[in-house]
Amino acid sequence: MTKSNPSAAETVAVDLGARSYEVRIGGGLIARAGAEIAPLLHRRRVAVLTDATVAATHLEALRAGLGDIAMTALALPAGEATKGWAEFSRAVDWLLAEKIERRDLVIAFGGGVIGDLAGFAAAVLRRGVRFVQIPTTLLAQVDSSVGGKTGINSTHGKNLIGAFHQPSLVLADISVLGTLAPRDFLSGYGEVVKYGLLGDAGFFDWLEANGPALAAGDAGLRRHAVRRSVEMKARIVERDETEEGDRALLNLGHTFCHALEKATGYSDRLLHGEGVAIGCALAFELSQRLGLCAQEAPSRVRAHLRAMGMKVDLADIPGDLPDAQGLLALMGQDKKVVDGRLRFILARGIGAAFVAGDVPGEAVLGVLEDALALRG
Ligand code: GLY
Repeated sequence: MTKSNPSAAETVAVDLGARSYEVRIGGGLIARAGAEIAPLLHRRRVAVLTDATVAATHLEALRAGLGDIAMTALALPAGEATKGWAEFSRAVDWLLAEKIERRDLVIAFGGGVIGDLAGFAAAVLRRGVRFVQIPTTLLAQVDSSVGGKTGINSTHGKNLIGAFHQPSLVLADISVLGTLAPRDFLSGYGEVVKYGLLGDAGFFDWLEANGPALAAGDAGLRRHAVRRSVEMKARIVERDETEEGDRALLNLGHTFCHALEKATGYSDRLLHGEGVAIGCALAFELSQRLGLCAQEAPSRVRAHLRAMGMKVDLADIPGDLPDAQGLLALMGQDKKVVDGRLRFILARGIGAAFVAGDVPGEAVLGVLEDALALRG
């Protein structure tokens, strides 16, 4: 990687024909949000959906960055519980009360919860208005702000109500990552590691070498990690926007993760990116047991997560967990089940993931039983 000014922005284009857009990645993008967004505006006014935590830390910086573009904002409560019908309908009603028109712009300013909810509100408001993602967490910068998945949770499960609605622009300001709690940063890093594991062994090598310095705050390394992650996501979304095939690769580690998130009640016991990291380690363990990859692969995955101070095993999750059958049952309710069979993302090695349609339940049970036994 060449040494360059970390506050200079880099651009990744997401090429989706009429729905194409750019993801800008760099320091100070919020401070110049007005100049970045102005070409998209028909009138100099935007409506911002955010949460109370992000509003307290960053909303005035965004207002200043927008310059003479008038900004109106609604701050919803922070946390996953916001991502349901009640706050969604509050957000849509507010946008209507603010007289946001078809040609206006909504800004999603926050992490994954706000990005998904605001994107869905933009998708349905007046049958669809444009929106800009300004993600403020690492997880949102490398994953949820790119690719157009929007939605809310239902009592039947997470993300079951929604729409594909691509943003018109994404501004990933890496300077805000410095305000994240270390645990939240590392949770987002779980998704970064996922990209190396699923499709770029060289990027995983780079993360092994640079991950600790990146987590410690090096802005140039952070920008590179976000850019490479976004580039990989963009190429996959271009091939398969609506997840008919390849886009499922982005779910590496997620079938295990969703079961663990359900088992821990979507609580502080396990953050999403932590579940993804553990899920990736389990997916590589499963791949190795199925004879698809060498033992070295799951060992390297675990060693890197451990070196980063991340959760690696089921033993790292505090409190009780269901037994292996119970966890398998929670996977069985995963929305990615196709025709009653479990679908997993497995790997032939680091950087070589593929979608496997019919994984034997006994092998999954064996992996879970052994992982639970390590909890003692
Ligand atoms: N987060 C997975 C996807 O966007 O497809």
